[in-house]
Amino acid sequence: MSIVFLLIILALHGVRCGLVLWCMDSDGVFMLVSCLTNECRFVCVLEQGDRTDKRDTSAFNTWKDIIIPGNVDDGMTKHGPKLIQPLPLSRRKYLANYLGRAQGKAGRLHLIELAKQYPDKLESPELKFKGPDKLGRLEYFQHLRNAKFCLAPRGESSWTLRFYESYFVECVPVILSDEAEFPFQNVIDYSQISIKWPSNRIGPQLLEYLASISDEDIERMIDHGRQVRCLWVYAPESEQCSAMQGIIWELQRKVRQFHQSAETFWLHNGSVVNRDLVEFTNWKHPLPLP
Ligand SMILES: *[C@@H]1O[C@H](CO)[C@@H](O)[C@H](O)[C@H]1NC(C)=O
Repeated sequence: MSIVFLLIILALHGVRCGLVLWCMDSDGVFMLVSCLTNECRFVCVLEQGDRTDKRDTSAFNTWKDIIIPGNVDDGMTKHGPKLIQPLPLSRRKYLANYLGRAQGKAGRLHLIELAKQYPDKLESPELKFKGPDKLGRLEYFQHLRNAKFCLAPRGESSWTLRFYESYFVECVPVILSDEAEFPFQNVIDYSQISIKWPSNRIGPQLLEYLASISDEDIERMIDHGRQVRCLWVYAPESEQCSAMQGIIWELQRKVRQFHQSAETFWLHNGSVVNRDLVEFTNWKHPLPLP
């Protein structure tokens, strides 16, 4: 059975199972689908472009699902005065940073260690959930904007909000999450706006490589990022460019001109019929719906 409509997308942000869809299948039955189980056989609209979850099972299928951007703090994405402004490259204190909790994750712990070895190049303090080692919202963005490159290592899943935030403080995101998938890959050339580095090569070599990139090249990437970041923003419908626009493009690409299946037949005159030669347009549901 194929999906007929994706009706409502409910995004409950900040929760791992953040997306639930109401779909209607071809029997007209509403289905509540949580796409975080690998039994999901529908076109799923996922915030977490993620091939693997905690248990290393796939929650995302490249061939049918759609990834949507993470929801960045409104204070950074709105028009007009922002929470903070990006700094000119010359005024940034660090080459790179990672500002997140380690959560016992290998890549993150590695970065925190690396920052202890190269404290003037890499800012990666050991942050906590609460207390003095937690950054407030404003503080967080103030730190984030203070490096040329913002490192985005894998966490619980391959997904990382930091990637999207980078575009609003204008640092170049460096993806250190091999399985991560990103939205709108039919439209965006990610090599122009980010770097993806193998996560098993987190170490001094990464910092050397980043230091070898000229400011001119960095500015070019930041500039490309400025052009596409409107696609990360859940803006009102009146906006020409927004995340919703990107999602509509992706959904449109899923629409086929012609729908074939093992139970679909067609005649000389364009009539599409079922096995009983009944035209689909005349087909009635066998049982009345409640
Ligand atoms: C096409 O042909 C079939 C069989 O002759 C007929 O039942 C059907 O009504 C026709 N459809 C149209 C759209 O003319």
